[in-house]
Amino acid sequence: MPVLLVAREGPVVTLTLNRPEKLNALDAELLGALEAAVGELTRDAAVRVAILTGAGEKAFAAGADIAAMANMAPDRAKAFSERGHAICAAMEGARFPFVGAINGFALGGGCELALACDFLYASDRAKLGQPEVCLGVIPGFGGTQRLARRVGLGMARELCYTGGRIDAQQALRIGLVNAVVPHDELMAKVREVAKDIVDAGPLAVAACKRVLLEGADVPLREANALETEAFAKLFATADQHEGMAAFLAKRPPVFTGT
Ligand code: COA
Repeated sequence: MPVLLVAREGPVVTLTLNRPEKLNALDAELLGALEAAVGELTRDAAVRVAILTGAGEKAFAAGADIAAMANMAPDRAKAFSERGHAICAAMEGARFPFVGAINGFALGGGCELALACDFLYASDRAKLGQPEVCLGVIPGFGGTQRLARRVGLGMARELCYTGGRIDAQQALRIGLVNAVVPHDELMAKVREVAKDIVDAGPLAVAACKRVLLEGADVPLREANALETEAFAKLFATADQHEGMAAFLAKRPPVFTGT
């Protein structure tokens, strides 16, 4: 079986981490497959949403593969970390959103991959955390930084310093996940939200994603200027004309991404 399953339903692609016997722990083979798949998807103009989830009943991903990391020298650890960062950056930089479907444990590198998704829905069985300090290391795929940006410094510090796990409801309370749904309904709910994204104007969704990402790292005045620039540019697109004409004509829009 491939370590990464790629399933396409029109504009929605579902990527499933597929090492369930190891709780989808991220080894070099799985990271390589994910890197290649994300690269391919980002070059495919027809993709509008990617869903990332884990195979099996227990885990989204229980972290980077500890057996594979145990004997790494610092230079290999650096390359491993850089590879994880590159994948997360490619997901964040994609023109379309990644939605994480957190179907179980999302720990360590698994939580970091989740954080590289635009937003997350969690099964009521999910458990999330950054347990790296319990192994004598720290998050290496961007966890310290993205967690702090998503849930605030205080919660990020507590999670990273203690290595503690939180359940889905706690993750919801701190804003780490957007919704908690019964385990068996997770994929259906995520597909519903994916459909809402697909029905929206693709250039507008891409612009929103870019402005939200780029704006997070610059002062508010500059971030607002990015928004104004992107807003104005959309008025030169067929999608803006179509979206507004459709509203005024009381009919659904037909966006072309142009
Ligand atoms: N790396 C490598 N293998 C892992 C793994 C990881 N991060 N997480 C789980 N596995 C493997 C286990 O070694 C076990 O393999 P085995 O059956 O060959 O012994 C298999 O997955 C099942 O895990 P197991 O620990 O038996 O399941 P559990 O339900 O008892 O516990 C966890 C689940 C998630 C609590 C536990 O697996 C765990 O703590 N994993 C490590 C989490 C972690 O520290 N992640 C950060 C890594 S930087």
